[in-house]
Parts: sequence; structure tokens; C-alpha cells
Amino acid sequence: MLVEVVLVLVLLVFLYRTFSKPKGLPPGVWGLPLVGTLLGHSTSLPAYFHKLQNKFGDVFTVRLGSRVVVVVSDYQLIKAAFNNPALQGRPDFFTFKIFSFFDNLGLVFSSGQVWQNGRRFALQHLKEFGMGKSKLEGTIEREVSVLLDHFSNTEGKPNELGRNLNVAILNVIWSLVAAPDRRYDINDEEMIYFANLMKVNFGEIQGPIVLLDHMPWLIPLIPQVIKDKWMDVDKVIRDTNTVFVFLKKVIEDHRKTLDPSHPWDYIDAYMIEAEAQKDNPDSTFRLDYKDLLTSVRNLFVAGSETTSATLRWVFLFMALYPDVQKKVQDEIDSVVPRDSLPTLEHKTILPYLQATICEVQRRASVVPLGMFHMATEDTTLAGYYIPKVSPSGGLKRPALTNNAEPIHVSVGLTSRAQLQAKRHGVRVTMDAVLPTDVLEQYATGAVAAAYTANIRMRREKRTKWE
Ligand code: HEM
Repeated sequence: MLVEVVLVLVLLVFLYRTFSKPKGLPPGVWGLPLVGTLLGHSTSLPAYFHKLQNKFGDVFTVRLGSRVVVVVSDYQLIKAAFNNPALQGRPDFFTFKIFSFFDNLGLVFSSGQVWQNGRRFALQHLKEFGMGKSKLEGTIEREVSVLLDHFSNTEGKPNELGRNLNVAILNVIWSLVAAPDRRYDINDEEMIYFANLMKVNFGEIQGPIVLLDHMPWLIPLIPQVIKDKWMDVDKVIRDTNTVFVFLKKVIEDHRKTLDPSHPWDYIDAYMIEAEAQKDNPDSTFRLDYKDLLTSVRNLFVAGSETTSATLRWVFLFMALYPDVQKKVQDEIDSVVPRDSLPTLEHKTILPYLQATICEVQRRASVVPLGMFHMATEDTTLAGYYIPKVSPSGGLKRPALTNNAEPIHVSVGLTSRAQLQAKRHGVRVTMDAVLPTDVLEQYATGAVAAAYTANIRMRREKRTKWE
């Protein structure tokens, strides 16, 4: 009898600890055990978060499935969260695992030492191979010229933007990562197929498959046929593997021609590092190249659809707001001769263009929920308690997203950003809206004007463009 009582008590304590809301969490919606807040089919996650933000403020809790999610949508708090090492993990989402050989690999979905080493290495070597420098500028200029020719040749005819832009962008990333001397033509079938796969993968993971991310306890319970037919699990795996097979061949070609004294690109640099560290037991660089494959795929996926979608929004806004388009063009014409392209050097003397890019990025919000982060330690944010991920299962998994607010557009922002820039004597740069750059740059004050303007406009909710 005593044993039964103890067992029941242990079970009750377990259930209480598992299903009760930890003290000190930000206010929000707790929902039901295991399933959390069930969203209606008509509610998108960003729209739902926006509703919760209006009700609970810039930091709130929501239980998505069995995951406890803390949503942060205030710039200063996002910055504080990004700077807190306890909040730099990634949750073990099912989709994240598919993209990483079900292991802790790559740059985007990895955690801990693998993420730290991979990220440091990628930043160092991508810079070495031209990122953010005039070296890459030449490649970008080449792609822009090809695109401009293409647009002139198709003038007056319907033109599908996504495909051309994607190939141009992939060519730029390609030059850093996989082959500085090779470019694909806009009509290259292989590259179009590759670009489409990236895009498809981006969209697929927003379907019903996310239920497996939010309710990992469902994974062993749902029959495979439902996973495949309704959640597209087999398709996501197939598409991911097709990209891996394509990239594997690229990596194999690199292996055959590698000259350790002359690395050409990121893949070469990785191979040299993995070889140099092969006897280091703490090395996270792997000679089976699964980490390299994952990282290369991460760079292509993270860099291509985001940039392409942003550019497509630029085209749309310029078509919708010809007055803004004219001002941008006039400013460029006042600085850059008609027969040449703007360069990075012109960036600081094109404040209206910079502010417009800022505004388009804010308005388009191509990654509206950012990427989920995970607490690897108990920690605090804005005075609230954020508990460490429970080691035993899918429960208590706080994650942070960046700005979840739908966009409020105002043409006033651009002039306001300029005004702020003048007042503070600083440059207006588009880096303000890129989370990975913003931390370092904000400290220098370089982007303060654009960002202050952004935040103020959001608060005032001016909607002249709408
Ligand atoms: C307009 C273009 C882009 C947008 C809007 C964008 C947006 C984002 C966002 C929201 C994150 C998540 C940050 C976080 O919360 O952890 C991210 C991460 C990342 N992005 Fe981008 N990105 C863009 C372009 C690029 C490009 C061109 C590349 C590389 C070729 C790239 C590579 C990455 C990588 C590797 C990560 C993971 C960083 C980490 O976990 O440390 N992105 N990006």
C-alpha cells in the first residue's frame, strides 16, 4: 500500500512539475497540457503572436504544443537575449534534425561548441574570400550586369523575377563558398532546379510538419503514412537529400583538386582545417564532411531565399510607390554616373537609398519570427525567469523569436531616418535590420539613427503607405 501511495505521489509531483507554469515566466497564454495553444487553421503564427503582443506586451509566453516559447519583440531585449550565452542554443526541432543528418551539425541549427567553432570559422573565412569587401563587389557587379541585360532583353514582356534573382544570388554565394571561378547562367537548368529546391524547402517547413517540432511526443505515435501524406515528411527528407547529393558532388570535386597551400573557397578552407585538427579530440570539424555539407547547405538556404525575397519586395515597393522610386533614382543619379554601377564606397552618401532598403526590410519582414533560440541554462530576461530546457523530453523549451509584429509602413520613416541621421551625424545603414550584424554595429552608434527611427515609427504605427 505504501509503495502505491509513494508511486501516486511521485506521479502527481511529476505531472505537476511537467504541466504547471514555472513561476516568474513572462505573462501569456498557457493552454492545455501537451497540446498547448491550438491555433485555428486561419491564424498564422505571426498574426497570432501580434495579437498576444498587443495583449501582453513585448515579452510574453505562449505554449506551442508542449514547447514553452517566450516571444521577445523589443529591440533592446532582443539584443540583450542575443548577447546572453544561456540563450544561444537551438531547440531540437524535428525539421532542424532533418536538415542536419539528425545530429548537432552545421551553422544554423547547431548548438554549443559545434555552433561556436563553425560560426567563427565561417565568418573568418567568408571574409577572407571576399564577404563585405570589394573582392565580392566585382562578383555582385557581374551578376547585376547580367540581370540588367536580361531585363533589357525582356523589356515590355512578362518577366518572372524569382528565378533570375535566385540564380544571380546563388552565383554570389557560390563564389564565396564553392567556386570563385564558376558562374551559372540564368537559364542553367541545374541551377534553376537547385534554386527551386532551396525555395521549396523554405516553404515546406511551414506546413503541418511543424506539429512534430512543437509536439515531439507525437513523433512515435503518428503513423508514417500520415507523416508522409499529410505532413510531407518524406518530401522534406527527399528534397533535403537531393540538395545534399548535389553538394556532396561539389565537395568530392573539391577533395580531388585540393591544394592545401592554396585554398580557393570556404569548402577548401574547411577541408584543410578538418585535416589539421584530425588528432584533436575536441575538434568539431569532421572528416566525414557531414558538418561541412550541412554548413554549405545552411549558407545557401539562409542566404538565397532571404535575399531574393527582399529584392522581390524592393521591386514591388518601387512599382507601388513611384515617388519613392524616383527619389531613389535621383539620389543615385546625383552621385553615380549613369554608365557605372554604385559601389560599396557610395553607401554612406546614399542615405535615402539606405533608408529605403531599411524600410523595405522592415515592411517585408522576410523572416517574421526570426529563428528559434533555446535556453541552455536557467536565466533571466527583462526580470523574467527563462528556465533551462528540460533534459528529459520536449517540455519546457523556451525559445526566443525576434520581432513578431506585423508591419506598419510609413514613407515618413525614410525621411525621418534621414533626419535622425543628420541630427546625430551618423550614417544610415541597412545593417540595422540584420540581427547578426546589429549587435556589433549598434555599439558603434553607426546604425542608431535608422534603428531609432524604425522603432519609433513602429510605436507610432503611422501607416501612410498602407
Ligand atoms: C536579406 C537577407 C537576410 C535576412 C533577412 C537574414 C535573416 C536572418 C535571421 C533572422 C537569422 C536568425 C538569427 C537568429 O535569431 O539566430 C539569420 C541567421 C543566419 N543567416 Fe541570415 N539573413 C539574410 C542573409 C543571409 C546571407 C546572405 C547569408 C550567407 C550567405 C546568411 C547566413 C545566415 C546564417 C549562417 C545564419 C545562422 C547564424 C547563427 O546561428 O549564428 N544570411 N539570418
